[in-house]
Amino acid sequence: MKVTTLVVPAAGLGTRVLPLTKNLAKEMLPIADRPAMHYAAKEAADSGITRMALVIARGKESIAHYFTRDLNLERELSTKGKTKELAAISEPAKFFDSVVSIYQDEQKGLGHAVLCAKSAVGNDETFAISLPDDVMMCEPPCLRQMINACEKYGADGAIALVSVPPGEAHRYGIVAGRELDGRTIQIDTLVEKPKPGEAPSNLAIMGRYIANPYLFECIEKTAPGAVGEIQVTDALQQFAKTKKLIGVRYEGTRLDAGDMTGYIKTQFILAAQNPVYRKIMEDILTNGVPRDNAA
Ligand code: UTP
Repeated sequence: MKVTTLVVPAAGLGTRVLPLTKNLAKEMLPIADRPAMHYAAKEAADSGITRMALVIARGKESIAHYFTRDLNLERELSTKGKTKELAAISEPAKFFDSVVSIYQDEQKGLGHAVLCAKSAVGNDETFAISLPDDVMMCEPPCLRQMINACEKYGADGAIALVSVPPGEAHRYGIVAGRELDGRTIQIDTLVEKPKPGEAPSNLAIMGRYIANPYLFECIEKTAPGAVGEIQVTDALQQFAKTKKLIGVRYEGTRLDAGDMTGYIKTQFILAAQNPVYRKIMEDILTNGVPRDNAA
């Protein structure tokens, strides 16, 4: 299965991480030593995806700029022999052959944001959707695992799933269906934020999807649902009626950087992957914060 395009809905207001997002795009907030968006883009590139369609709001153009070359800065760093920094700023421009931005003028929900990318995706190819709030630590990359599962089962689409404690199911989109193997189900039921006690399972939707363009038709027919927004979960319920939609309990870890405590936890975990940062963190946790001018 050829999946060329990644759609990234990134037009949201990021209210759960205010004040950080008062004048910075949530997707550009630093996580360890890279912007949040870097991780989602690298995952897609490492999964074989070659185009990115960014759905943004006014003021969030910096996300797209991150994936362009800055020739002046490259020259400057090259002249000064700063090879490490040069490699770091050059990397994101190499992830994709092309990056397009599409404006979502009104925040009408995730489903509506995906629909904004319809003309960028076209009618012919299965595409991926990635919500950069969810940082995936997976090997192979999460999207690759999902594409592989689609190929294995001849599926038209896939959703990344995690088993959550039953008491937390009301916070997520929840799916249910028939088991295909220990990690994969064929989905027949999807509910966005079920009422407590009414969830059809404890399998929660994480921010990675694969779908063919029939999803756009489904979104066009979807009325606003939970919290008054056009929900991609509702559109996928339509999709699953006639298309083969699978759920993949991927191998790896998902870090939710979309609210403040999740964002701090994600920082901590990703920084700890780097031995230099890890040592700093361990020193502080062992010895406390060093004091200036101790007597
Ligand atoms: P979230 O609800 O998690 O993100 O939407 P948000 O709206 O930015 O954040 P809060 O809830 O106010 O803190 C999931 C993803 O869908 C995008 C968001 O940018 C995020 O990546 N989204 C959501 C849109 O692009 N447009 C929308 O209308 C809604």
